[in-house]
Amino acid sequence: MSTESKRILVAFATRYGSTREVAEAVAAALGEKGFQATLRPARKAGDWNGYDALVVGAPLYLGSWHKEALRLLADRQEAARARPVAVFALGPLHDEAGEREAARVQLRKALDGLRLEPVAVEVFCGKYDPARLRLGDRLLAGLPASPLHGLPASDARDWTAIRSWARELAGRLR
Ligand SMILES: Cc1cc2nc3c(=O)[nH]c(=O)nc-3n(C[C@H](O)[C@H](O)[C@H](O)COP(=O)(O)O)c2cc1C
Repeated sequence: MSTESKRILVAFATRYGSTREVAEAVAAALGEKGFQATLRPARKAGDWNGYDALVVGAPLYLGSWHKEALRLLADRQEAARARPVAVFALGPLHDEAGEREAARVQLRKALDGLRLEPVAVEVFCGKYDPARLRLGDRLLAGLPASPLHGLPASDARDWTAIRSWARELAGRLR
């Protein structure tokens, strides 16, 4: 099958929108590489019969990958194993090796239960805005023991790294 005819579903889960924007950039980069990339929320992904490959992106919350992304892959494990799957997570709020490694461990744990062999697994830094937190997250961030306590708004998403990952991914999804 030629690259031009390959269809890729880019499914994302998000709570505050930052992962959606990353998924958009990934879909756009794959589109520039000649794929037909369709962007969908994970919970509305439908069936994947029409897609040759799957990219699933979701944020980490309290050590877990967003449940809508997990559910998408867990509910259709056979379909997931039948095509190349790439996954990414948003999480660390600072571009620090320790935070990134902790997030990688969180993502790997989430994927362990799925018995899936993704062609690529990546963690990107995320975005945080205390003024937009939902009640539960706000209460949590307000606890003195929380790592979010007192953190200012930040956006550590590295768009150059995100686009170059997506471009490099194109080679693995062929
Ligand atoms: C309450 C809360 C808990 C979080 N927990 C984690 C975590 O366990 N690990 C991590 O790497 N990032 C964590 N983050 C950072 C988010 O993953 C990051 O803000 C991400 O960009 C949010 O994505 P979204 O805008 O798509 O929802 C947390 C953020 C909040 C607000």
